[in-house]
Amino acid sequence: MPEPSAGHAVELNDVFFSYGSTRILSGVNLKVGYGEAIAIMGRSGVGKTTLLKIIAGILKPEKGYVRVLGCITNTGCFNSLRGRIAYIPQNLGLVEGESALYNVLLAKAPSKPLRFMAGLWGRDDLSEALEALRMVGLDGKAKSRVDRLSGGERQRVAIARAILQRAEILLADEPVSNLDLDTAEDIAKLMVGLKSKGLTIIAVMHDKWLTSKYFDKIYLLDGGILREAV
Ligand SMILES: Nc1ncnc2c1ncn2[C@@H]1O[C@H](COP(=O)(O)OP(=O)(O)OP(=O)(O)O)[C@@H](O)[C@H]1O
Ligand SMILES: [Mg+2]
Repeated sequence: MPEPSAGHAVELNDVFFSYGSTRILSGVNLKVGYGEAIAIMGRSGVGKTTLLKIIAGILKPEKGYVRVLGCITNTGCFNSLRGRIAYIPQNLGLVEGESALYNVLLAKAPSKPLRFMAGLWGRDDLSEALEALRMVGLDGKAKSRVDRLSGGERQRVAIARAILQRAEILLADEPVSNLDLDTAEDIAKLMVGLKSKGLTIIAVMHDKWLTSKYFDKIYLLDGGILREAV
């Protein structure tokens, strides 16, 4: 059994994972300190999304363990801290056809069926959501449908949702892919800037220049193994 937490926000110890008979991760080790921003890079299909899902507790390692904020994933302890982890999937997971504000407010009631959402939020939630949208520079678009927003604006909605969630860990899967370089840099800066709010950030990234400019450490996933890039 693993020892009690050694003071890292996220820790992976000898993690193995396969889909059926296809091995994806073959002994991944990682330690991320509180308030660090780290990037995971690697070619398409190598298992970056899989790795993030394992950290988020969505997938379970077949061997080894993952500890997030002191709790081992897939335990009661981990389940009790779900709200403290924000996971922005590769496709963002926005509710299309609904407004930016609505999508941000989902941070306050993520598991409620949509038809029960109306009237669920209080005045405080609304003003906090608007403040989160202001922080990401989207206060003028609060009422816009997310499917009518640009790629960069949609990323900002997803980040505002993580801000409203008051998450301590942000897991972001390719948050700046498919954006022009200037917009990608704005988003990377915004996201990594959340470290000042105490967030620990793990992001899957592709652009080497942007990644080395903004992230504390870069890891490369290759052949099922994660190595720190030097
Ligand atoms: N649910 C699944 N069942 C079976 N195989 C899967 C499943 N999800 C992903 N895979 C396979 O596992 C491998 C790793 O997928 P993953 O999505 O983690 O890669 P990735 O590094 O995030 O790729 P990309 O950069 O294209 O997003 C791929 O070969 C993929 O086809
Ligand atoms: Mg992926």
